[in-house]
Amino acid sequence: TTDEMRARVKEIKEKLGEDLFIPGHHYQKDEVIEFADATGDSLQLAQAAAETTASFIVFCGVHFMAETADILTNESQVVILPDMRAGCSMADMADIHQTERAWEKLEKVFGDSMLPLTYVNSTAAIKAFCGKRGGATVTSSNAHKMVEWAFTQKERILFLPDQHLGRNTAYDLGVPLEEMAVWNPITDELEYDGDPSNVKVILWKGHCSVHEKFTLGNIEQLRRDKPEMKILVHPECTWEVVQKSDLAGSTKYIIETIEKAEAGSQWAIGTEMNLVNRIIQQHPDKEIVSLNPNMCPCLTMNRIDLPHLLWALESIENGETINRIQVEQDVAQQAISALNKMLEHA
Ligand code: 13P
Ligand code: SF4
Repeated sequence: TTDEMRARVKEIKEKLGEDLFIPGHHYQKDEVIEFADATGDSLQLAQAAAETTASFIVFCGVHFMAETADILTNESQVVILPDMRAGCSMADMADIHQTERAWEKLEKVFGDSMLPLTYVNSTAAIKAFCGKRGGATVTSSNAHKMVEWAFTQKERILFLPDQHLGRNTAYDLGVPLEEMAVWNPITDELEYDGDPSNVKVILWKGHCSVHEKFTLGNIEQLRRDKPEMKILVHPECTWEVVQKSDLAGSTKYIIETIEKAEAGSQWAIGTEMNLVNRIIQQHPDKEIVSLNPNMCPCLTMNRIDLPHLLWALESIENGETINRIQVEQDVAQQAISALNKMLEHA
């Protein structure tokens, strides 16, 4: 039963003590968050991984986060993902072969003028690709800083794999849409109408399937029905949606904005369902809804549940750890340079 599973998780946590660290991303289910030693956005969880001395890190999040944790911890520390099927469809939209092919083609147009930046929502191999070329990783909470930094290094940026975070960030920093091109990894072509010498940012054509479900239609309806309501979205939403919203930021920013808001204020939030539901529960004094009334779950985040968490913990108890995430050493070495640049600027 659920109660038995919860009791077992508690028991193993107590037994392992400081030897065990459970980070939980804000999109995780309540039944998992209950047992997290630290919760956070992607940046906070990467920082927590870099600092922990625990021997076992049971990462409650998705695959790229566990890879990042493995890269930032030392070799003797074991990182476990409770369900190997917890991937990220956005990270899967850029594979390393496509990226190498794209770079080669883009170099023919732009020469040595580009710096690669990748959203942390990417494979370790893509992070290594960026690290090898002097580039860095970014998260939604430091994308502005990192893009500003990138422009001190090179004239142009290739931004992987989320076109929306890339477009939203560059636009905020004053790059007009006309100076942004899109690289299509399916056709291997640059989508751009004008003279390529005007291009400042090349956006990889990837997206988050959860955040694309928040639409202009949702916003129009809300503005009609609830004109007082403020709209707060994640920057993985499209540029059009972010422009028509009141505020945009990382999961940490969304949480803090609601915490600071006045009692009685009204909010529509455009991000993953578990987080929106948790915020609703924690703030009964405010009127909060999901921007898309159908509530949008991230199916892969949701694969981590109480039974999988318990299974992972029991495997540590038995001494036969399952689902270890281990990034190859040469990849890790190059990826760490990209991650460290981000952590230094954080
Ligand atoms: P943050 O928590 O860093 O805002 O990231 C959101 C996300 O989609 C993670 O996959
Ligand atoms: Fe990936 Fe989107 Fe899920 Fe985040 S919410 S893990 S970006 S699919």
